[in-house]
Amino acid sequence: MTATMRAIALQPSGRLAEVELPKPVPAGRDLLVQVRAVSVNPVDTKQKAKEGQLRVLGWDVAGVVEATGPDCTLFRPGDEVYYAGDITRPGGFSEFHLVDERLVGRKPKSLDFAQAAALPLTSLTAWEGLFHRMGLKVQGNEPKTVLIIGAAGGVGSIAVQLARRAGLTVIGTASRPESSAWVQRYGAHHVINHFEPFLPQVQALGFASVEYVFCLNVVDDNWDNMMDVLAPQGKLCTILPPASSLNLRPLFDKCLTWCMEGMFTRPRYRTPDMDEHHRILTQLADLVDAGEIRTTLNRRMSPISAANLEEAFAELRSGRVIGKIVLESFA
Ligand SMILES: NC(=O)c1ccc[n+]([C@@H]2O[C@H](COP(=O)([O-])OP(=O)(O)OC[C@H]3O[C@@H](n4cnc5c(N)ncnc54)[C@H](OP(=O)(O)O)[C@@H]3O)[C@@H](O)[C@H]2O)c1
Repeated sequence: MTATMRAIALQPSGRLAEVELPKPVPAGRDLLVQVRAVSVNPVDTKQKAKEGQLRVLGWDVAGVVEATGPDCTLFRPGDEVYYAGDITRPGGFSEFHLVDERLVGRKPKSLDFAQAAALPLTSLTAWEGLFHRMGLKVQGNEPKTVLIIGAAGGVGSIAVQLARRAGLTVIGTASRPESSAWVQRYGAHHVINHFEPFLPQVQALGFASVEYVFCLNVVDDNWDNMMDVLAPQGKLCTILPPASSLNLRPLFDKCLTWCMEGMFTRPRYRTPDMDEHHRILTQLADLVDAGEIRTTLNRRMSPISAANLEEAFAELRSGRVIGKIVLESFA
């Protein structure tokens, strides 16, 4: 008889359902992970299930390796791990989950499973955006300034910490007293409001402009403000595609560099360097265990159930989440 497992799956109707699915078997470089905690991300709310199919969501997992494929070299059964994984495969809202070991890091020892599950997807995005796309160094940059737009969100809460540790002056954006306080608590030197023009607010803080902008929210609404506030020869990294055509002229006039960050690009295209995710998450775990980076967990929900997941998605859709929401335990 085939072994089964519990899972939460999206149906073609758009509703979530608690279902029984076959327990997967690891092949090649896959790990079979017993899932302990999964955090939610806006990407979950953008998925659809095809007619006649179920889609398991959840690309931010912490758990324990139960079994390994025959070609695995990095992990063994019993290892505690965390990862975002691959959006082209089923997500982790299931008791057991398959993931390629090259995308996986050892879980920070100082964090529990929920605290660890808050980190992978957003940290990979922030790390790749700052260090791989904009070319900043992980530490010891020249004293320059970065404006992080949407700094209280999941990605922002880790980007602020990484940018500060990298030696930059960090200006974060937030629009409410509670999100503003969170951004400051996570290490921003200054906070401005993303619903007001950026340049006068930055100038009021004593800066003529900023050398880097890391935009973690809608591109279109923020475009003119970003073009105004960037210094000539500055760099912009965005993590969403623009929804309409933009005025690109300021990129030319100011010789700006515009790069994009897509955290799932490496796994989606199985790039030769997809094991960067293993390296980034391992380095991040070391930083967390050294007390240099904090978990961004803000709300725990238990158990992992369709009702709790619906509630978490409703919060995400409000666009006002601070830090991360994590679901734990298949009680
Ligand atoms: N390309 C990638 O690899 C990648 C990776 C992760 C996420 N993303 C995408 O990036 C976006 C952010 O992800 P997230 O997980 O950080 O989301 P999130 O946690 O839901 O972000 C919520 C935050 O967004 C802020 N916000 C709301 N409206 C804004 C606006 N117009 N301008 C700037 N900030 C605004 C809010 O701050 P206030 O409450 O203070 O207004 C809130 O704290 C999502 O669309 C997600 O799909 C892309």
